Amino acid sequence: MRHLDLSRADLTHGETSALRDKWSAWFDQLLTHPKIYRWALSNPLTRWLTQYRTRQVFDLMAGFVHTQVLLACVRLKIFEMVMQSPKTLQELSVLTRVPAAGLQRLIQSAVTLRLLEHRGEYRFGLGSLGAPIVSHPGIQAMIEHNHLLYQDLLDPVAILHDQWNGEMSGYWPYAQNKNSPSAMDHQAQAFARYSELMAASQTFVIEEILSSYSFKDHRVVLDVGGGQGRFMGALAKRYLHLQLNLFDLPDVCRVSTQIANSQGLASRIRVCPGDFTRDALPQGADVVTLVRIAHDHCDAVVLSLLKSIFESLPAGGTLLLAEPMANEPGEKPEGDAYFHFYLLAMGSGRLRTPMELMQLMSEAGFTHLEAVPNAMPVHARILVGRKSKYFP
Ligand SMILES: C[S@@+](CC[C@H](N)C(=O)[O-])C[C@H]1O[C@@H](n2cnc3c(N)ncnc32)[C@H](O)[C@@H]1O
Repeated sequence: MRHLDLSRADLTHGETSALRDKWSAWFDQLLTHPKIYRWALSNPLTRWLTQYRTRQVFDLMAGFVHTQVLLACVRLKIFEMVMQSPKTLQELSVLTRVPAAGLQRLIQSAVTLRLLEHRGEYRFGLGSLGAPIVSHPGIQAMIEHNHLLYQDLLDPVAILHDQWNGEMSGYWPYAQNKNSPSAMDHQAQAFARYSELMAASQTFVIEEILSSYSFKDHRVVLDVGGGQGRFMGALAKRYLHLQLNLFDLPDVCRVSTQIANSQGLASRIRVCPGDFTRDALPQGADVVTLVRIAHDHCDAVVLSLLKSIFESLPAGGTLLLAEPMANEPGEKPEGDAYFHFYLLAMGSGRLRTPMELMQLMSEAGFTHLEAVPNAMPVHARILVGRKSKYFP
């Protein structure tokens, strides 16, 4: 595990030297000079970089079309169709009931995006990027779900204003204004719908946690905001000695209980309904997991939740927090823009850097804060904190 140095927090927004600013301004002017582009393209040493950058800018501009090509392929189930055997345009036209002339545009676009590929002159098969999509139902569920976000982003400036209230915020009942009467009650369908989506998309996050952190020395786990219990189910199978507890809102817990029963896990997983903004957490766990929870809430709610977790743990207990996190300055970008805007549209929470989360964990009382390295940080990054063994 890698220790992050909290004392560096003050440096993250440190002052840039005046000299560096001057140099950057000069370089920016050079790059944007009209003659530079032509010169860089004609120079064999710089041509590749200019071509690469130009393609990147073009892809940025065209990204919204790419997204809709992807959505159309998913809705028409084209990946499933070509996976069984490569198909001609005519065959796909019959199967999808879309006129061949229009479908051809989609197929050609999907080929350029590597979602499909040519198999011989007239047939199409799965492309290198289509393959993971068809094999993971969670990705397809998210692609369909992103259509709500797409509608919210039609005016990307309007969404920046405080009074924004769009499609995405309606999707997440617990993100709505709690002052509205019974905002969280009588919405069983909405709870079931988002819980289903979370369960479908949680597989990748669970794989990241299980391949990076060992629960063998723990005895009792409490998964706060555990949803339908997919993570607890995976732990039950991997670690036969663990006692497992799941805490979530009552509407979600009704479904989690049914699922645990239907999977024969009722004796392994105790489902505890409650609201962490009002209720105390169940005691007795020596490790609490918080998977894709903190980013949904403002700092005040997260801090109060972390304090409740701290209180619920015995001395020496562990908190494991896993979710997508923002890059620290200087790190390679990994999907931040998507999560920043997703949470903005949701109307609650924000994407935090590991350092920001560790500061909240530290304020709640946790020590020995560590970042657990994992293979695919775009799905989630993992932080661990402990309640000191010597806590009174
Ligand atoms: C984004 S989902 C994550 C679910 C699951 N941990 C996962 O990664 O798939 C957030 C979960 O937190 C639960 N939740 C939100 N607000 C809550 C509250 N006040 N008390 C208890 N659970 C809450 C939601 O019902 C939902 O199951």
